[in-house]
Amino acid sequence: MTRIALVTGGTRGIGHAISIALKDMGVTVAANYGGNDEAAKAFTEETGIPAFKFDVGDFEACKAGIEQVEAEVGSIDILVNNAGITRDKPLHKMDSDQWQAVIDTNLTSAFNMTRNIIDGMRERGFGRIINISSINGQKGQFGQSNYSAAKAGLIGFTKAVALETASKGITCNAIAPGYVATEMVKAVPEDVLNSKILPYIPAGRLGEPEEIGRCVAFLASDEAGYITGSTLTANGGQYMV
Ligand code: CAA
Repeated sequence: MTRIALVTGGTRGIGHAISIALKDMGVTVAANYGGNDEAAKAFTEETGIPAFKFDVGDFEACKAGIEQVEAEVGSIDILVNNAGITRDKPLHKMDSDQWQAVIDTNLTSAFNMTRNIIDGMRERGFGRIINISSINGQKGQFGQSNYSAAKAGLIGFTKAVALETASKGITCNAIAPGYVATEMVKAVPEDVLNSKILPYIPAGRLGEPEEIGRCVAFLASDEAGYITGSTLTANGGQYMV
């Protein structure tokens, strides 16, 4: 049976690699994106994966977007809540817009998406929900009180949803990537990256987006049905829980 996946933020960065990894395992993939039309167009041209534009921080937009995906592609079996942004500032300099934008896009999005998909998964007796958390939700990070709170929240969300869905053939897991070579990490000031981050990665390098894509493919597979409520870390040894 061909499974259908929806990957939020699935046209760029880690999401781009996740979309391709799922496609490579024979899944029919739809990618969501928030704003960058040019990148989405290039992604669809490159991969043949359709891209759907809607704001994951907006419940009604998610409802409409998911309806469109299900009408054009089919019922969603695999949901990857990957979309995320940063608005890094030490707390004493952070304003409420920077807090709220990150909470909406990185955490409330998981509710908005999962709530609009869960009924179908429950009815069909199958589902894979994979939430992309972060090392910084596990250990905290200077300048990321908003992002760390959202990414830690995703781990709690994962465990609660896993408990509620385990008897329905649905698994819900989180992945906590470390620092992966994407535009988001490249936006970290070079001196901070070189002096405060890279020296603390025992593997001695940033992760590759494809390395996270493979984690998702594993958890999305039919064979991973006994794994639920877990957090898979992929951080080059930077933080062990
Ligand atoms: N630990 C300790 N001290 C740190 C620090 C850290 N990680 N990062 C910065 N500092 C220190 C600086 O050395 C500096 O110290 P001095 O004043 O003694 O020189 C001081 O904090 C700077 O403080 P400011 O109040 O001036 O901070 P700022 O307004 O310049 O903002 C920042 C700094 C925006 C937080 C900047 O340091 C930054 O962008 N840091 C990177 C944050 C980060 O790692 N983000 C992750 C992005 S990638 C991602 O999120 C993906 C993922 O999941 C991993």
